Amino acid sequence: MSARILDGKSIAAEIRREVQIEVAAITAQTGMVPCLAAILVGNDPASATYVQKKAKACKDAGITSVRIDLPADLPEASLLHEIERLNSDPTVHAILVQLPLPPHISERRVLGAILPEKDVDGFHPSNLGGLLVGNPLFVASTPLGILELLNRTNVVIEGKHAVIVGWSVVVGKPTAFLLLQHHATVTICHIKTRDLAYHTRQADILVVAAGKPGLVTGPMVKDGAVVIDVGVNRLADGRVVGDVDFPEVAQKASLITPVPGGVGPMTVAMLLKNTVDACRRLCGVIRPSGDAPVPSDKRTMAQP
Ligand code: GUN
Repeated sequence: MSARILDGKSIAAEIRREVQIEVAAITAQTGMVPCLAAILVGNDPASATYVQKKAKACKDAGITSVRIDLPADLPEASLLHEIERLNSDPTVHAILVQLPLPPHISERRVLGAILPEKDVDGFHPSNLGGLLVGNPLFVASTPLGILELLNRTNVVIEGKHAVIVGWSVVVGKPTAFLLLQHHATVTICHIKTRDLAYHTRQADILVVAAGKPGLVTGPMVKDGAVVIDVGVNRLADGRVVGDVDFPEVAQKASLITPVPGGVGPMTVAMLLKNTVDACRRLCGVIRPSGDAPVPSDKRTMAQP
């Protein structure tokens, strides 16, 4: 079998056009412009590139973005103070702190300081916990992007065995709970998993987010599996590759995401969607369908 490519770039472009239309409608209705504040601590080049991409995507969609650059040796208390200022600024609807943070700063304390209603990355404990019980205000953009890729290419999730390789808070864990919420049977593997290939071979849907190039090879994949590669690894020769051996696995899979051009663009698109949702909720803007934004404690998702 030779896999069909799951083209995240073109699906993300479609979502970004939808967001652009939605932003124009909100602005026409209320005069409000959704606004995302992005905090970058230090000068890690990869993080700076990600923040730049997010700002460009905001601009294209008509969303205001404010970039806050802070020095790498900034005391944690100063970062918390900056977050506090953004939390109470009514013109800012969405806040993200680009990860990773310098080692002297506690990511847990920083992410926990963002107002859950502005936490468009979905990393606040109340949003992560909300995902567990089925009513998060926000779900992290990468897991949401994976779900959207599957939905928009008509991949059935219900009843399928999804295997996730990687247990990060940014990707692995929220993806697992999101797919569980959509009635997949979910296995989470990680660096200590014994006989990883045994588990990956069971997967109808295989999501790999381990940050290790070439981790998943052809023999580790079941014929016809849907393979989502979240890895972004820069090799010594400058090439960017995922965690999956693409040429080998493409011979086994039915659908596969490329790197670059698969999950990455979807993450940015879903961040824009979350930012618009944050603006709607904070400003009480009615959806085009006529539904008012639903208060967080009244939202429900399908239960088993
Ligand atoms: N670092 C790697 N992925 C992400 C992400 O989705 N959001 C933020 N804020 N930082 C990241």
